[in-house]
Amino acid sequence: MESRVWLITGCSSGFGEQFVRQNIARGDKVIATGRNAATKLAHLKDTGAAILDLDVTLPEEDIFSVIQEAHKIYGRIDLLINNAGYVESGPMEELSIERIQRCLETNFFGPLKVTKAILPLMREQRSGMVAFIGSINWQGGWCGHPSATAYSATKFALESLTECLQTEFAALFDNSVRFIIFEPGYFRTEAFSHSNVIHLPAKLPEYKAFCELVGQHQRQIYHNENGDSAKGVARMIDVLTSTGMAAGKDLPPRLPLGTDSLEMIRTKCQATLELCDEWEDLIVSTDAMAEI
Ligand SMILES: NC(=O)c1ccc[n+]([C@@H]2O[C@H](COP(=O)([O-])OP(=O)(O)OC[C@H]3O[C@@H](n4cnc5c(N)ncnc54)[C@H](OP(=O)(O)O)[C@@H]3O)[C@@H](O)[C@H]2O)c1
Repeated sequence: MESRVWLITGCSSGFGEQFVRQNIARGDKVIATGRNAATKLAHLKDTGAAILDLDVTLPEEDIFSVIQEAHKIYGRIDLLINNAGYVESGPMEELSIERIQRCLETNFFGPLKVTKAILPLMREQRSGMVAFIGSINWQGGWCGHPSATAYSATKFALESLTECLQTEFAALFDNSVRFIIFEPGYFRTEAFSHSNVIHLPAKLPEYKAFCELVGQHQRQIYHNENGDSAKGVARMIDVLTSTGMAAGKDLPPRLPLGTDSLEMIRTKCQATLELCDEWEDLIVSTDAMAEI
């Protein structure tokens, strides 16, 4: 089979770097992107991947230009991995609007803008696949958690973006471009490194002890995570290419990764079903034709 062309965001470390190395090893072509690529992606030059500078918080027109440049390299882009992102931590009252907005710009509007720039090319090709990296770490895009307001908002938003795109391309374009959101639990990457998660001291005395505890907890998470990022990326590639452990299977709309992710999603689904059962009478009583 002809090799595929992947475009991956946030390739300096973690999942992004693994996507680059594993896809090159499989014989595919890779466009590895990242901010300050000349220095931060220098370690990937020997892989043979094409390297492009792409900060996903750039304005829409700049991202569009980078994607046009990327498309010229191999004349097509088959798979987009919207990987770039980071963990913003802090209870809602402590977080400035600027910090929440910066997280949304990177983790949500970044993937949205990159996807918007690539979709016309994929529609013209009449094929393509777009992956989003949601999250169950720090409860991410499925469950609220103290100190996770900003991060969770971005990952919940990616869940809805993925579902809406799935339905739009099913209804309008015969599923010619397909979409998936992966929902990893905790994986060993640089996500929880001491320089990546910023812990500001609490401004309000009521949050002081809590913020210190969160800081300690997150420092302990780093490199004690349950998941192996190389295995996580290998499984994501299996799913995206219907090979290995996903051979013969259709692309699922979403996929948890890791035992922690599976347990958290099951627990939330069960609790939601129980809530629907317990409150069913009241819930249906608001219908126009209801007898009450
Ligand atoms: N590791 C986990 O436990 C876990 C679990 C669930 C989901 N995720 C998600 O997985 C994705 C990858 O994270 P990771 O775990 O592999 O962590 P990582 O090792 O810290 O990698 C994050 C990557 O995102 C890049 N990035 C951040 N802001 C960017 C921007 N504005 N423009 C372009 N690139 C940017 C970083 O580049 P710099 O080096 O320039 O900062 C880095 O390459 C993220 O979306 C994260 O939320 C991770």
